[in-house]
Amino acid sequence: MKSYEGFNYPYEIMDNIGDHLRHIRDMELRDDDVFITSYPKSGTHWIYEIVYMLLRDHTAYCRKHHLLDVESMDVFNNAPSPRVFITHIPIDRLPWRLSQGRVKVINITRNPKDVVVSHFCFVKRLAMTAFDGEFNYSYVDKFLRGDVPYDSWFRSVLTWEKFPQTHPEVPFLMMNYEDMKTNPRQEIEKVAIFLGKTTDGVVLDEIADKCSFIKTHQDKVDHPDPLFDTFSRDGPQIIYRKGEIGDWKNWFTVADNEKFDQVYKEKMAESNLIFRFSL
Ligand code: A3P
Repeated sequence: MKSYEGFNYPYEIMDNIGDHLRHIRDMELRDDDVFITSYPKSGTHWIYEIVYMLLRDHTAYCRKHHLLDVESMDVFNNAPSPRVFITHIPIDRLPWRLSQGRVKVINITRNPKDVVVSHFCFVKRLAMTAFDGEFNYSYVDKFLRGDVPYDSWFRSVLTWEKFPQTHPEVPFLMMNYEDMKTNPRQEIEKVAIFLGKTTDGVVLDEIADKCSFIKTHQDKVDHPDPLFDTFSRDGPQIIYRKGEIGDWKNWFTVADNEKFDQVYKEKMAESNLIFRFSL
């Protein structure tokens, strides 16, 4: 991890942060591009699959994700349309051409207790971090302070919450992991409407089924993305772990939870976002 102009980036996977961020900022967009933005471990790849299927009017899984923060512009320039990008960078680093209002942006949020657990499990498996620590309050505390790759969860969600006001010209949809989990069909339809797709109800049902955790996980076991293999210490299966709401209860002590709640209350005092921490 490396701080660059006040933000903690995972420099291990970003080649030359300054240059790469400048290339992103100036990148050419296509009108049918879709950007999926999030704090990592919020269900970004889940929504990616859904968007990918909706845009292509079929229910085949994506075989090649476009990770804006990591891959070269050549890869994106040569990618077929419609392109879907995943990114976790701050809003002011996104391509300036988004302000032309032609490209759609989707943000996904998830309750931060499950995010920190998912984050911990992910970091432990990354080849480049060689992180062998235990899950305890010191990790949670680092997360709460933003002393982790991609900085602060609060900074991310609070700036995205304001995005419709700061960027009223950009077509924008905010999604939520817990809503997707409890009512996938309804949430997928919401995404379809946002994308301007009049997808048949049967196809929506099929997408909901294929994008369930169990089925997507199995697909990725059978067809691993080679890019993830380069990130991982023990095989490419680093995104699809458990896919549940409330797994944090298996990791937090009562004291961790109390301390977390205290910080959460302070930092989210001005926010209208409401997160569900259990079913
Ligand atoms: P867990 O580690 O809690 O299992 P991201 O794509 O932003 O990195 O998020 C990864 C998290 O989303 C992981 O959480 C992963 O299991 C979960 N996830 C991915 N696909 C999912 C799906 N179809 N249904 C539910 N959760 C999913």
